Amino acid sequence: MATTWPQMAPDFATRLGRREPQAFRHGLADHPLLSLEAIAELATRLPDDSVTAELAAKPLVHSQTDSTRRLDRKVVAEQIRDLESNDAWFNLLNIEQLPDYSELVDTVVREVALSGGIDPESITRRAGFLFASSPGAVTSAHFDIEQSLCMQLRGTRTLGLGRFDDDAHREVEVKRYWEGVYGRLDTMPEQTRAEELSSGVGVYIPPFTPHWITNHGAPSLSMTVAFFTRDNSDEAAVQVLNHHLRRLRLAPPPYGTRPRADRAKAAVMRGATAARARVRRTPA
Ligand SMILES: [Fe+2]
Repeated sequence: MATTWPQMAPDFATRLGRREPQAFRHGLADHPLLSLEAIAELATRLPDDSVTAELAAKPLVHSQTDSTRRLDRKVVAEQIRDLESNDAWFNLLNIEQLPDYSELVDTVVREVALSGGIDPESITRRAGFLFASSPGAVTSAHFDIEQSLCMQLRGTRTLGLGRFDDDAHREVEVKRYWEGVYGRLDTMPEQTRAEELSSGVGVYIPPFTPHWITNHGAPSLSMTVAFFTRDNSDEAAVQVLNHHLRRLRLAPPPYGTRPRADRAKAAVMRGATAARARVRRTPA
């Protein structure tokens, strides 16, 4: 019998350090807080601004039309219970706001860390997201600045992973992120890998890794646990500082090209809340 909590391969710490995707197994579909009914109920427990809806049918690259809209949360709960017959997509954001889901997110992080050879204390700014979507729904191509564990609970989807053309392309997209695009891509990246997400399958998606997801013919429920390590926390902090410097008409070198300067900038920014305030999740 599968264990409830994610079981990472012993080399996960190495994969995390190298930002290499890795599939893993979990038994979270059987967790009482992650049943369809519990997730529908959760939509009524979260604050208004933590429940968002999108159109399920979207192109694989981002449309300029903002399809995000807010709904009555009782209606959301009903539609989550009836995903099969709706063309719906719901995002339940920052579920760690509620004590029971905070404990769930912390336990996932602890078990991932312990099975993967990582110090749990090194995993910071932990956040949980639940995604409920109808058959055929599409997550457009994007990248996140967080480390992400994407865990399928119900239904099947295909996750595509890709890469930027080169460092210059990556830097353009990083600048756009902090200008308010938040990682949405308007061209499809070259695909490097595909993973079939079925119940019990999870995939570690490294930060700054383009990815996109297409639902198969059944409703999908999934949970993403996102977090920072020193690695992506420092990178994001330097990017925030560089963004502000560019607004002052300066031309700071991209993160990674001047490691000593990066370390100094990260030290200045460490503890600052700017990066955190600018983060907006893009669904996974
Ligand atoms: Fe994502």
